[in-house]
Amino acid sequence: MSTPSMTLFHNPASPFVRKVRVLLIETGQQDRVALHDCVPTPVSPDAQVVQGNPVGKIPALRLADGNMLHDSRVILDYLDHQHVGNPLIPRDGSARWRRLTLASMADGILDAAVLTRYELALRPVEKHWAAWLDEQRHKIRRTLAELEQGAMAELASHFDIAAISAACALGYLDFRHPDLQWRADNPRLAQWYAEVSQRPSMLQTQPPA
Ligand code: BEZ
Repeated sequence: MSTPSMTLFHNPASPFVRKVRVLLIETGQQDRVALHDCVPTPVSPDAQVVQGNPVGKIPALRLADGNMLHDSRVILDYLDHQHVGNPLIPRDGSARWRRLTLASMADGILDAAVLTRYELALRPVEKHWAAWLDEQRHKIRRTLAELEQGAMAELASHFDIAAISAACALGYLDFRHPDLQWRADNPRLAQWYAEVSQRPSMLQTQPPA
């Protein structure tokens, strides 16, 4: 085992962190990165994370030279350039833009799901904004429907940036929003997820019970 040369500022519940950890495992780089646990919330950033990362985002990756990379998309791109296997983000051509757009759709699900989680878990009940919460749920459902109807063959073709992002998004819905019951309207996504969620990279990065 090599000594880790990079530090990943990390929270095991964060689906954005999970994408990075899945890519590290899929590309055989997990021993290169030490994990630094932090528990930032929208109102209390981690003191170490904000050094070189003023927005306080996690994941953030401190490189051997001290430079800090953020957010998950930048880190994934960086790490995909640090291994010798097949790239998990196509380097150019139409495949690059399509796979990144699918990944962005999955990230959109995550943005809506994480914001919803903050609203429901951190804000007092009397301040919950029902119309806003409804629209976040609509966003999630619309995007799932688009993946279900238009992207299953692409997601199933290989476990790359698009598939990793989609798998982490579905895993987060199970973790924080089981009430959405996303499988009911999306049987092909459900079948695909049942398979990819058994990959070692997904099993080793499951959110806390
Ligand atoms: C969560 O607990 O759901 C969470 C934690 C960190 C980042 C995003 C979400």
